Amino acid sequence: LYSSPEEASTAVADHIASLIRAFHPTEKRPFILGLPTGSSPLKVYARLITLYHNNKVDFSNVVSFNMDEYYRLPPTDSRSYHHFMYTNFFNHVNFKPENINILDGMANSWEIECQNYEEKIKSYGRINFFLGGMGPEGHLAFNESGSDRTTKTRRISLVDSTIKANSRFFENDQKKVPKAALTVGISTILDNSDEVCVVVFGKNKHWALMNTLTRKPTSVVPSTFLKDHNNSVIVADYAAIDED
Ligand code: GLP
Repeated sequence: LYSSPEEASTAVADHIASLIRAFHPTEKRPFILGLPTGSSPLKVYARLITLYHNNKVDFSNVVSFNMDEYYRLPPTDSRSYHHFMYTNFFNHVNFKPENINILDGMANSWEIECQNYEEKIKSYGRINFFLGGMGPEGHLAFNESGSDRTTKTRRISLVDSTIKANSRFFENDQKKVPKAALTVGISTILDNSDEVCVVVFGKNKHWALMNTLTRKPTSVVPSTFLKDHNNSVIVADYAAIDED
């Protein structure tokens, strides 16, 4: 628990950088990093970019897998998660282009795209570190309420509260928000990762945070499944935990 998102994000980014640094000298395989979009991780990305410019972290041996992407929104669209990731992170650090993996919402067959993504993750063995955010109703990636513990990468219909929350990126017009997305599943995250870290900031996440902490694992609030992982951590600020 941190007093501000800045403090929390610095701690998370420094931790990621130290894991990558510790990994390089000994391992031949790449470091595998799971990444989210949303406003929550923005300060983590900003701090990682600073660390990169200060020669404190090197991404040349890091392979990334993003959590999700809107269905049928082209990567060139400024609201796509492709665009978000390149603008806010990848364009500013030294990932090899071939090491960046983001679900393709424009693929002819979403079934094949999702199956290939799941298999590609498994082909690397373990994901070393999965960073996530949390939706206001406790979704992880786009695993909406109702997503169970066994879910894998798939297409999902977005629920009304997500469409409403994300309409801020679509001129506040809910009709413009895509109604579906491709997303990794709860199992994809929890069963493949050595460490999972979810950042939760601000008072509009209070309900999700308290329900995640106090309820038994339930698909009603998918973030509760974090309890099912032996190395998962939620990093929050005071605003998310405060009652008012
Ligand atoms: C979207 C994303 C999630 C993200 C959530 C919260 O729905 N698919 O991965 O965690 O928004 O976003 P924010 O961090 O902007 O509150």
